[in-house]
Amino acid sequence: MLPKTKNWKQVKSQLRLPWAIIFLVLSFVCLLFWVFSGGNREDKLFYDEIALMELGEENAFIHSAYFFEDSKSLGKNAVAIVATMHRGAVTDLDEYRIKIVGTNSTKRLVTEAKLSTERDPDESCEYTTVLIQTNTLNSMSKLEIESRNGLVVLPIQTPKQESPKPVVFCIAPLFAAEQWQSFLMQLQVTKKFGAHLHVYMMTMVEYYYQMVRELGELGVISTQPWLSPKFSQVGKPFLEPNRNAELRNPAAAFTDCLLQYKEAAQFIGFMEIEDLLFPVNAQSYYEEFEREYENSLQISALYYQIMEQQSVKFSSPEQQSLGVLLSNAKSGEVFKHGRSVIRPERFNSTWTYFSTQAENQPVILSEEQEEPHYLNRKKILTNAVLRFKNLEYSNEELNATVIPMNPLSSDQQLLKEEHIKEIDEGIKETLLLPTLQEYVKRLPTEDYYSTKLRDCLEIQKHKKGQCVNTKHCNLPNNAKVPCRHSDGLYHSGRVMKPYTYHFVTEYYFTRNLGCYE
Ligand SMILES: *[C@@H]1O[C@H](CO)[C@@H](O)[C@H](O)[C@H]1NC(C)=O
Ligand SMILES: *[C@@H]1O[C@H](CO)[C@@H](O)[C@H](O)[C@H]1NC(C)=O
Ligand SMILES: *[C@@H]1O[C@H](CO)[C@@H](O)[C@H](O)[C@H]1NC(C)=O
Repeated sequence: MLPKTKNWKQVKSQLRLPWAIIFLVLSFVCLLFWVFSGGNREDKLFYDEIALMELGEENAFIHSAYFFEDSKSLGKNAVAIVATMHRGAVTDLDEYRIKIVGTNSTKRLVTEAKLSTERDPDESCEYTTVLIQTNTLNSMSKLEIESRNGLVVLPIQTPKQESPKPVVFCIAPLFAAEQWQSFLMQLQVTKKFGAHLHVYMMTMVEYYYQMVRELGELGVISTQPWLSPKFSQVGKPFLEPNRNAELRNPAAAFTDCLLQYKEAAQFIGFMEIEDLLFPVNAQSYYEEFEREYENSLQISALYYQIMEQQSVKFSSPEQQSLGVLLSNAKSGEVFKHGRSVIRPERFNSTWTYFSTQAENQPVILSEEQEEPHYLNRKKILTNAVLRFKNLEYSNEELNATVIPMNPLSSDQQLLKEEHIKEIDEGIKETLLLPTLQEYVKRLPTEDYYSTKLRDCLEIQKHKKGQCVNTKHCNLPNNAKVPCRHSDGLYHSGRVMKPYTYHFVTEYYFTRNLGCYE
């Protein structure tokens, strides 16, 4: 009896086993089918929607892509990409969406990114600065951006964890730069009042370049090469991006700088090297900006008007003096646009003078509030950014005779006499740094590139609706005045619709491209 029972049992278990597996496999297939059909339906909807917005085949240049593990304002695992994109490939870039693929060691996640453009509301350049934003997965190690028919892998950058000072001034890309006197003044003024300089470099005369590079290496300032968009491989004839983007694209550089210091700085100012700001009624920039923000939640940016100043510059290193510069200054025109100083958590992107996006953000201040408030830039009426762009070389021995007054209030000094002394001492000390000696002796003593550039741009500015650009100028290089030019390894992703993506790795500076290229 016993063995028979055992036999029967064995048969039964042999029969049961395949059924269980078949059932498991079938339900797994059903589950997969259910998951994927659902996913596909959603995908199809997305692609149908964006296909309606696509008009053509154009190019996009990626300046940088940042990954934030945990950002106060962008959220966890945030991706923020700064790009210069042709506007004509889609109906409206601000409404268009792109898929971003994040990958870590165990998973891959596709998310939708939103786009925000920043550009001159009155100008008509075909290429515009765009911020591409999404949130993806933990410990992302690979980042891809999608177009209609493929993916491109982008290099990932990490934002700064710390800033040397709570206030950072981002300096617009130096281009055909030779007025080294302005750099020395800016360096010491910002040192005195507590701002860290982050300087973007494109083209500069040789020894000015060497001086700035060396100060970057000494850690006195931060420097970063800034590259013009170029496409090494494209599908069809295309519009030259540098001819059709706002001059040197400061908006993209400023947005890059903002993202780098987003978690690290308390305040960020967007300036040119020739712009000087003195905190009137305060000991430091930090104090002035805190006071102006007045703890208000409705201010997007402090907006300082720009006042042109005429003054002199000297060719010899020994004669450099802020006191002389300010004593001999005459106020000129006030510019149409001003300069922004911001709290980085309230800004994700910016145009050259202000953000056209930040002011569209509604803020809810209290529960009773029915209508949303909108962030606004606060116009500063008691202080201004002084712009010493067009200094004339002088041979006279000029002295600092008067204490300069704040051009916006005739009874207030711009800064104290002892501050001027301290700053002038600082300039002398910098010029005596041992590692700078070789370059200081050979700094330019006359203008060559900048004056030609200025004349050409002046003509364009008076034509309405023009995309103001150096590419329209026919500018000569001068073999006797060597110029350093940023360069790098240009990469193009495969040709895709609506955008082919381009980016750069391995930045360096070359003497072979001239100053204007
Ligand atoms: C990869 O991402 C997933 C989803 O966010 C997360 O659960 C996982 O921990 C991540 N892997 C690593 C190694 O961080
Ligand atoms: C910045 O981005 C975050 C995350 O997408 C968003 O919540 C916030 O409103 C944005 N801020 C501005 C000023 O656009
Ligand atoms: C400037 O100061 C120097 C020495 O302090 C003096 O010799 C010179 O005459 C002054 N120049 C002018 C124009 O006042």
